[in-house]
Amino acid sequence: MTRLPLIVANWKMNTSLADAYLLANGVRNALHHLEHTEMVLCPPSVWLGLLAEHSVPPRQYSTLKLGAQNMHAAPAGSYTGEISPAMVREVAEYVIVGHSERVRYGRETVEQSNAKLHAALAHGLTPILCVGEPRKSKDSVRQVVQHLGHLVKGLSNAELREVVVAYEPVWAIGTGDPATPEYAQEVAWVLKQHLPAETRLLYGGSVEPGIAAGFLASPQIDGLLVGGASVNLKKFLTICQHADDTVVSARTATYRHPR
Ligand code: 13P
Repeated sequence: MTRLPLIVANWKMNTSLADAYLLANGVRNALHHLEHTEMVLCPPSVWLGLLAEHSVPPRQYSTLKLGAQNMHAAPAGSYTGEISPAMVREVAEYVIVGHSERVRYGRETVEQSNAKLHAALAHGLTPILCVGEPRKSKDSVRQVVQHLGHLVKGLSNAELREVVVAYEPVWAIGTGDPATPEYAQEVAWVLKQHLPAETRLLYGGSVEPGIAAGFLASPQIDGLLVGGASVNLKKFLTICQHADDTVVSARTATYRHPR
């Protein structure tokens, strides 16, 4: 069976509540055109419960899901301002772990990301684990593989299958300078040598509607993690439509009329 492409919207610290409803309802209302694509919206955590209640009830829509942008690894406790895995699980199915902006601005360590990964899996959440090299260099691929190795420490193969790995070269995030699909595919291929065949792998970094199809055409890339373009409904839906079209055209290409 063909796996559905996965398009994740990371709204980061953007949107008013009104924007959040417009975006989430807009995606929900377009679902009938996007039957072959799984979409995950990751709004700021203060909107999660409201969107889960009014726009994207958990599990009700099979292809539209909610995710958190971050969480704490501990089950509960005196961690002012944090949210726990169990809290996220009440309103969402996914959680982004180890985003480079958490590393850069929140000083998140690889050990903390690893603890969050374990906690997410223990609570039945699907982690979207971010890996990526800080700068373009000849050594990039080795750095990314090493980064992945540290992040997934202690995970069984069965657990790794549940993880979504997002290859996000840090130099491509929010810069308007995306990796080329060829480069992303090369890194994705190497990363996949270190992961179970079932683990989904996304590309993220300055994805815009005009370049989405190039990444989605790669057999190594199972979807996209979209930042800036995901808070523009038209752009986000165009990216999702490209993902849907790749499935439809792949099916048409292999279809043989029965004689
Ligand atoms: P941009 O698409 O804005 O570059 O952000 C990518 C990203 O960080 C998604 O998590």
